[in-house]
Amino acid sequence: MVLWFFSDSDDADAWAQALRDELPDLVIDAGVDPREPAAVRWALVWRPPPGGLARLTALEAIFSLAAGVESLLADPTLPDVPVCRMVDPGLTATVADYAHLVVLRAHRDFPRFAQLQAERRWRQTTPRLAGEVTVAVLGLGELGGAVARRLADSGYQVRGWSRRPTAIDGVRTACGPDGLAACVRDADVVLGVLPATPATRDLFDAAFFAAMKPGATFANLGRGDQLVDTDLLAALDRGQVARAVLDVFRDEPLPSEHPFWGHPRVLVTPHVAGSTLPATGAPVVADNIRRARAGRPLRHVVDRERGY
Ligand code: GLV
Repeated sequence: MVLWFFSDSDDADAWAQALRDELPDLVIDAGVDPREPAAVRWALVWRPPPGGLARLTALEAIFSLAAGVESLLADPTLPDVPVCRMVDPGLTATVADYAHLVVLRAHRDFPRFAQLQAERRWRQTTPRLAGEVTVAVLGLGELGGAVARRLADSGYQVRGWSRRPTAIDGVRTACGPDGLAACVRDADVVLGVLPATPATRDLFDAAFFAAMKPGATFANLGRGDQLVDTDLLAALDRGQVARAVLDVFRDEPLPSEHPFWGHPRVLVTPHVAGSTLPATGAPVVADNIRRARAGRPLRHVVDRERGY
C-alpha cells in the first residue's frame, strides 16, 4: 500500500506524519522518483514532473494537494484514474480569512491611512458599517461559497456569481455569462475565487472592469490566467478600478520586472491566500483511501471535462 508524495512547496515530512497518524500501514514514498513505481497505488501531488504519474502502472487514484487541478489536467500523459481535488477545511478557512481581510481593509480605508501616514497627515473619517458595503464573490464552490458565507455572516451585502445556479442564505446570487455584469455592478469589492477552466480564462478583461462600479477594489484569489494584466493596469490608470489585491499570477513567481510589483495601488501577495494544511488535509485524503480500500466511491472526484 504505497502512496507517492510529490510537491516542491509542501512539507513532505509533515504530510507523511499526518497520513501515518491516520493510516499506520500506509507506506509513503516522497522521493522525486518513486523507488518502486509499480507498487504505488495512490499519488498525493502538487505539480508533479510531467509524465511522472504515467509510470505508476498500479495507480488507483490521484489526490491533488491543491484545490485547483488545472496543472494536473494539462498533462497529456495523465493516467485514466480518478483525480480528486483537495477539499480541506484548513484551506477553506485560510481562504475565507484572506478574503475577509481584503474586504475589511477596503471597507476600513487602510490603504488611505497608509498613504496619510507616509505624508504625516492626520485625517479622521467616520467608519461605515459593514452593511453599507457591497461585495461580489465570483465563484461559489467549496472556497467561494465559504467566502460568501463568511462575508454575509459579517454583515456585508453579498452578491455571488457562479456557472450554475447556486443558493446561499443571505447572498443574492446570479449565474451564467449574463449574470456577471449585474453581479459586480454595485459592488465596492469584487473577489475572484474561480477555478482555472477554458470558460474562466481571460474573464477579467476590459469589458469586465468597465462593468464594475467605478472606484471599487478588485481582488483575485483564483488563478492568474483569468486576469488580462494590461486591462487591469489600464482600468487602474483610469481610476475605474481604485485598487487591486492579487494573490495569483499568469507566471509564478511573478517576474521581478512585472508592473504589478511597483504599482502604488496594487497589493501583491505570493499565492498564499489559502494553503492546504497537513493536520486538516490528511484526514480528508485518508478518508478517500479508506473508501478506495472498501470499494466505496471516492469523494471530490474531478470532472475532467468541466475542469474542477
Ligand atoms: C491553491 O491555489 C489551490 O488550488 O489549492
